[in-house]
Amino acid sequence: MSKKILVIASGGDAPGMNACVESIWTHAQKFGWQVFGGAGYTALIEGLWVPIDAALASGISHMTACVVGSSRSKAFGTPEGIAAAVANAKASFDAIVVLGGNGSLKGAWEKLERNGVNVIGIPATIDNDVFFTKNSLGFSSAVEEGARLVDNLNGTMRANERDHVIQIMGWHCDELTKAIGEATFADIIDVNENRHSPQQIAQILERNRTAGKGSSTVLIQEKVDKSKDRNFIREMHEGVDFWNQIAAFAGDDIRGHILGHTLRGAAPSARDRWLGFHYGRVAVELIQVGKFGVGIGLVGDDFTTETLEEIKRRNFDAT
Ligand code: F6P
Repeated sequence: MSKKILVIASGGDAPGMNACVESIWTHAQKFGWQVFGGAGYTALIEGLWVPIDAALASGISHMTACVVGSSRSKAFGTPEGIAAAVANAKASFDAIVVLGGNGSLKGAWEKLERNGVNVIGIPATIDNDVFFTKNSLGFSSAVEEGARLVDNLNGTMRANERDHVIQIMGWHCDELTKAIGEATFADIIDVNENRHSPQQIAQILERNRTAGKGSSTVLIQEKVDKSKDRNFIREMHEGVDFWNQIAAFAGDDIRGHILGHTLRGAAPSARDRWLGFHYGRVAVELIQVGKFGVGIGLVGDDFTTETLEEIKRRNFDAT
């Protein structure tokens, strides 16, 4: 029987989403299904989906910027928005495939699946914050791009013998900052699980200088402090605490940089394209056998599933 499926990308977009869209469309063609796409829960609530056809979906796996768009929906947090999303999903589709991070997959379970909608979740975020899978779509591309950009910055900083501090995107998530920092041998990697005070950072910079190291690199995670919502760029602009305290120790030869949305706009790595292929393939196989309410993950060498309820519990409730 022919089916209609909707693919939505929720939250920040992620490199590799296009490969996943192409894969879902390609595999769905084998069954003659119709595939539609839209920008997140906003598209579902407002009926703003578009047909995905060969012209839109073929040859896009290498492209950045998700072809169906992506959105953060405020309306999906309201009873009216949820009711509209559920009604539209049930009236128009046999299955909804949600591409997103842990917040988006939580919404898929709490607001769609629990209200009787057939949902499948695919982890897609540069944050790599979905516990159940080794890698979400986008992480590998963001690490590659981040390492390349840090290398560029390290080169020019070294030439002038300057220290530098780089904020890496990844709201409340350590993984991206750690991976980029380890790949580039950063001198300090400041993340939630390994915090440094400005004084500690300044002392390490000073020690390196004394030891003859002309330039040191500090990577700090975006909004590292949940309670204070610490944001490096805001502090640089407003001239407050964190930056000034490091600069006070380090003197003039220090610079600050932000690697933010440029990481999300990275060209998809081959690994993310490969992940997108398999996440999409498995999603179509699950729809074919009528298995819903699950997320897909790469565990060891296998693409496998876990219930969205358990994914939500482990991401948000587990201690
Ligand atoms: O996509 C995840 C993420 O990139 C976080 O790392 C980041 O803090 C957030 O999205 C930024 O989102 P926005 O695009 O809304 O600024």
